[in-house]
Amino acid sequence: MHSTTLLPPRPPDLLLQPAGIAIRPLRRGDVATVQVVFDGLSPRSRLLRFHAPVPRLSARSRQVLADADGCRHVALVAVALSEPVGIARFVRTGPGVAELAVEVVDTWQGHGIGRALLEELRTHAAALGYRELHAEVLLGNEPVIALLRRLFPGAVLHADDPHTGTLVCPVQPRRAEVAA
Ligand SMILES: CC(C)(COP(=O)(O)OP(=O)(O)OC[C@H]1O[C@@H](n2cnc3c(N)ncnc32)[C@H](O)[C@@H]1OP(=O)(O)O)[C@@H](O)C(=O)NCCC(=O)NCCS
Repeated sequence: MHSTTLLPPRPPDLLLQPAGIAIRPLRRGDVATVQVVFDGLSPRSRLLRFHAPVPRLSARSRQVLADADGCRHVALVAVALSEPVGIARFVRTGPGVAELAVEVVDTWQGHGIGRALLEELRTHAAALGYRELHAEVLLGNEPVIALLRRLFPGAVLHADDPHTGTLVCPVQPRRAEVAA
């Protein structure tokens, strides 16, 4: 006899739910969070993020990375299960232009956290009046290049040398600014 069993709905799986991830600004001087996220990056992820092997963060680097003022340096932290698992940031480099960077600890990659962080970062950039975010990328880093192209329509990749490039990501102004 053929019978159909209706399976109960799958319980929410926090690992697969970007909605279960909280995103908050990095508090200025919060070097501990910067260190926890760095510690969760594999050597390969550190290479992709910093374009060089970085076995440890110097005290100076920690301070610079934690020196977020919410305007010229905006840094957002993704928190999962009370632990920081990723940071996206931009740092102003000129009028209306800032440099963007993002990292997600290896055990949480592929669950939508990078996308969520960058969407929130894009919102902050638009609200603060930035026109372009520039991402320095290794040319083989297809995941981040593809992700940024999807989030920033019109993004253009300029090769800086045989290994690295700059992805110029236009920030759409918010409606209110267009009207202003
Ligand atoms: C790049 C990075 C931040 C992405 O974060 P993430 O949380 O893993 O990304 P997400 O889960 O949000 O995935 C974003 C998209 O990339 C795709 N993606 C993720 N990992 C991928 C991989 N290894 N290969 C191909 N595509 C991948 C996903 O399919 C997803 O596509 P979708 O939005 O259409 O579903 C993360 O991989 C990372 O920290 N890498 C090391 C540091 C780095 O490269 N930083 C960039 C320097 S600016």
